Amino acid sequence: MLIRRKKGWEIPERDTTPQSVYQNRRQFLKGIAAGSIGATAASLPISSALAQGAASTADLYPVSRNPAYTVDRELTEKAKALTYNNFYEFGSHKSISQAAQAMNVRPWTVKIDGLVENPIEIDFEDLVRKMPLEERVYRFRCVEAWAMTVPWSGFPMKALVDFAKPLSGAKYVEMETASQKDTMPGLRQFWYPWPYIEGLTMAEATNELTMIATGIYGEELPKQNGAPLRLVTPWKYGFKNIKSIVRFTFTDQRPKSFWEDINSDEYGFWANVNPEVPHPRWSQAHERLLNNGESVPTRIYNGYGDYVADMYKGMENEKLFM
Ligand code: MTE
Repeated sequence: MLIRRKKGWEIPERDTTPQSVYQNRRQFLKGIAAGSIGATAASLPISSALAQGAASTADLYPVSRNPAYTVDRELTEKAKALTYNNFYEFGSHKSISQAAQAMNVRPWTVKIDGLVENPIEIDFEDLVRKMPLEERVYRFRCVEAWAMTVPWSGFPMKALVDFAKPLSGAKYVEMETASQKDTMPGLRQFWYPWPYIEGLTMAEATNELTMIATGIYGEELPKQNGAPLRLVTPWKYGFKNIKSIVRFTFTDQRPKSFWEDINSDEYGFWANVNPEVPHPRWSQAHERLLNNGESVPTRIYNGYGDYVADMYKGMENEKLFM
């Protein structure tokens, strides 16, 4: 039986962390930004760890930015986006960037299966080299009410769906994160329903905004941000953005995601950003920008309604936004 324990990101950090620790962390981040802390985030062995003894896709980056996707916010400082993470496989706190360097990301096999014409197991490098790579700047909103703005490199998920050739019965895509018992200490926390699973409807998976990210800030994706490939759905809360994907399964059954499995009263399938629907334990009306801690109003669908609102018409009775 699963023991339902409330953990880290279910509560805004300021409510869970003693103020002194929180302030120290902020000073630490400021230090990184000012370049005053020598051997920390700025010098994480990210690229070297990726390349260690294995082929790399570093030659693919940077890729050209698609000017159609711009935002009205400053980019988040790279050091912050790369050191303030949620990746429960490496711990239920934000400072997992060093621990995540242990993850083995080469070789990396991606399985595409279920209701498809082309079930396949393909090496990540072969896959990414077939895909149309571009950079897009998107806002990102975590359910914990912090937000960042980052340049992702990657490809539209529609390209992967086209590659898989789904059968007409496919209604959803279920995605699964790697389970590496040797490198992921979080997997020993048996009360979580590992592996991390997420899912999208076919309409969501093929929406023009939906990306499979393989890079960030013009470089290969670092391990802590979900190397070598992760989902990016900017109109949904961050927990939908599953990292380090090893499997895409096309199915006629709605997937039950990791967080929905833990607490379905608080985390649903849709998870669309909505300032008017509070999380049962905190408001979603505002968000705290990672760059400067400024609090700004949250927008419906995280400001992406023009691209996505049509997909949810007629679904007013669904448990839509949490
Ligand atoms: N994917 C996996 N496999 N494990 C996780 O714990 N956390 C999610 C999402 N994807 C998570 C995950 C949550 S809660 C958030 S907010 C984002 O990753 C954080 O992405 P970032 O660390 O790149 O900012």
